[in-house]
Amino acid sequence: MRTQVAIIGAGPSGLLLGQLLHKAGIDAVIVERQSGEYVLGRIRAGVLEQVTMDLLDEAGVGQRMHQEGLIHHGFDMLFKGERHRINLDHLTGGKKVMVYGQTEVTRDLMEARQAAGLTTVYEANNVSIHDFGTEKPRVRFEKDGQSHEIECDFIAGCDGFHGVCRASVPQSAIKEFEKVYPFGWLGVLSDTPPVHEELIYVNSPRGFALCSQRSQTRSRYYLQVPLTDKVEQWSDQAFWDELKLRLDPQARDQLVSGPSIEKSIAPLRSFVTEPMRFGRLFLAGDAAHIVPPTGAKGLNLAATDVKYLSTALIEYFQEKSPAGIDHYSERCLRRIWRAERFSWWFTSLMHHFPENGDIGQKLQEAELDYIIHSDAGSRSVAENYVGLPLNFGESA
Ligand code: APR
Ligand code: PHB
Repeated sequence: MRTQVAIIGAGPSGLLLGQLLHKAGIDAVIVERQSGEYVLGRIRAGVLEQVTMDLLDEAGVGQRMHQEGLIHHGFDMLFKGERHRINLDHLTGGKKVMVYGQTEVTRDLMEARQAAGLTTVYEANNVSIHDFGTEKPRVRFEKDGQSHEIECDFIAGCDGFHGVCRASVPQSAIKEFEKVYPFGWLGVLSDTPPVHEELIYVNSPRGFALCSQRSQTRSRYYLQVPLTDKVEQWSDQAFWDELKLRLDPQARDQLVSGPSIEKSIAPLRSFVTEPMRFGRLFLAGDAAHIVPPTGAKGLNLAATDVKYLSTALIEYFQEKSPAGIDHYSERCLRRIWRAERFSWWFTSLMHHFPENGDIGQKLQEAELDYIIHSDAGSRSVAENYVGLPLNFGESA
């Protein structure tokens, strides 16, 4: 098999890249380890920045998002038992975010790919990448007991944190930066109306909580839990009881509980790989970086990597210019580090760190009090939350 770009991984990064390349007439094949149903079963954050909405429109898959997604003009921060609204609209000159689950984004991209008749190999085993230091990279995999090889011009490593692409780069060529947090998020999805029309981020001495949503009838809630907790220890009742203890009296009264339709514990990590290009191999999305979910930057960062990568590849194939691919890594990393900084900061501000003692809690509360009463403080949170512009910090 021969293609221009072999994409490893059919998560949001790989699928969006495939779609943007297809729009530009560039041929790509996607090779995915799991089945399509498995990919759709993963529940992840669901807050889209304007830049991501625009990209989904550019890829031609924004229609259902505009119909079903919920526009949010603000969110609440709850601390010392009281809620305070961050008015994104006023603080950013009219910017907003869209609440639309990553599962739905993935579904829309999968359907568009299928409708266009593009090749995705699901349930590919033993995927391996070769010769990306040369002009003729290759991808090998097994499917239904048969061995296959793809010859290509470039490989896009969109295969997530545990993928094969980053692992195939020689240790001496890559530097990894990592911080693992001493707690996880216990998430529950339930077919109950959200407790509030906007999101509530909660700082409580009992630990962080988040009230989020997928639609007007489907809620997503999270609790900070010790990393040693197992999901089996948390009955639905225990989850709702603990959530109520972290909320303000009004939210506690209004919370509608119900059976969980998904329940899982996710660890929190900050992780960046430098660089993101190795000859004719590019890493994008979770293959190159992870943010803790506070602020929901993961999918948005994946989308902007893909924007830069698709632009660079289109420039290469259409104009024979390597300028975009030469700058890919540097351009992405600048944006990634800014989002890493915000996600780490927001995580540190909102979670309970027992090792910091009572003074740690008091200092967080003082910082939150400053943020909500200072225009500069609120604005800084708001402009990062809605997402910094693609050309932020670049000279005109
Ligand atoms: N071969 C082929 N496919 C692989 C391999 C492999 N060896 N290893 C992993 N994959 C697949 C995974 O099964 C998965 O479907 O690569 C895909 C990677 O998808 P994601 O993990 O969703 O990563 P990405 O597409 O970069 O999306 C980033 O996901 O984790 C969230 O917060 C993150 O929202 C962000 C988004
Ligand atoms: C989610 O809805 O899953 C979600 C929302 C906002 C976050 C993180 C997760 O900051």
